[in-house]
Amino acid sequence: MADRGGARVPGPVVSAALPRSSSRLGNRVRTAAATAILVGMAEDHRRPVIGDAFGTILKRCMDVGVAAGVAHEIVERDDGYLGVGDAVRYFAADDEWSPVDRWACDRATGRVLDVGCGAGRHALPLARKGHDVVGLDASPGAVDVATRRGVTAVLGTVEQLPPALGSFDTVLLLGNNLGLLAGPGHARTVLANLAAATRPGGRLLGTGLDPHHTNDEAHLAYHDRNRQRGRLPGQARLRIRDGAVATEWFDYLFVPLAELRELLAETPWHLRQAFEHEAGYAVHLDHRP
Ligand SMILES: C[S@@+](CC[C@H](N)C(=O)[O-])C[C@H]1O[C@@H](n2cnc3c(N)ncnc32)[C@H](O)[C@@H]1O
Repeated sequence: MADRGGARVPGPVVSAALPRSSSRLGNRVRTAAATAILVGMAEDHRRPVIGDAFGTILKRCMDVGVAAGVAHEIVERDDGYLGVGDAVRYFAADDEWSPVDRWACDRATGRVLDVGCGAGRHALPLARKGHDVVGLDASPGAVDVATRRGVTAVLGTVEQLPPALGSFDTVLLLGNNLGLLAGPGHARTVLANLAAATRPGGRLLGTGLDPHHTNDEAHLAYHDRNRQRGRLPGQARLRIRDGAVATEWFDYLFVPLAELRELLAETPWHLRQAFEHEAGYAVHLDHRP
């Protein structure tokens, strides 16, 4: 095995892939081609494999009986910033929820769609309270974990809701999943899709984070860079990492309440009430077609 800069590449496979030549020019071409292949392979070896990193983390946590310290969600931002959190928080019981989660779930009525349900920490107690709850998630692993825990969960995205979901009295975007609005243009699509799945008079309950509640130089520099690129300051380009596996890059939006209000203009959603706690907040939006 050859080893270039820490990335191990198999020598014999490389020589077998090159054209044979006895001329000096041929040898140079052959050497250049070998270098190109070696560099290309080394780069490929450094690149994570694209996969369901989030679902794998949830499964690992569940498979050890939902214990702390076993599975960690690594969130990578496109400036290289890494955030790490114990996956056990995605299994938190209702008595461990943050005040914003509690405020939002207390307002759920009727049939509920939990968008980006994860392991089902909100769907489960709501179903126990008698709500007909459907969890929706883009991660096959999350759907598997939520289903094993007793949630009626389906695979799908908020961008393309599965056709047979029916309509709901309440849609949830919890665990900061207002972030799925992603940015001004995308927010219009997501809000229209959720309105189409919600009965007139229904509600959207969501939680988010105000990005300006920080003194961290790395975050402040990221906000400035976003402004320079014509993006909202809290529009984060992220991917989830688990070992050598990563999700695709995606945009996740952290907006202050005032900016959220602007995103709701000319949508079927009206901000009825908000509740703020530290950097987090919850909103209750009414569906008024
Ligand atoms: C931050 S986690 C929140 C999970 C859960 N709501 C909670 O609070 O425990 C985000 C969840 O949204 C899911 N997700 C991400 N993009 C999505 C999309 N476009 N449509 C539906 N779900 C998505 C992820 O797979 C993940 O389960």
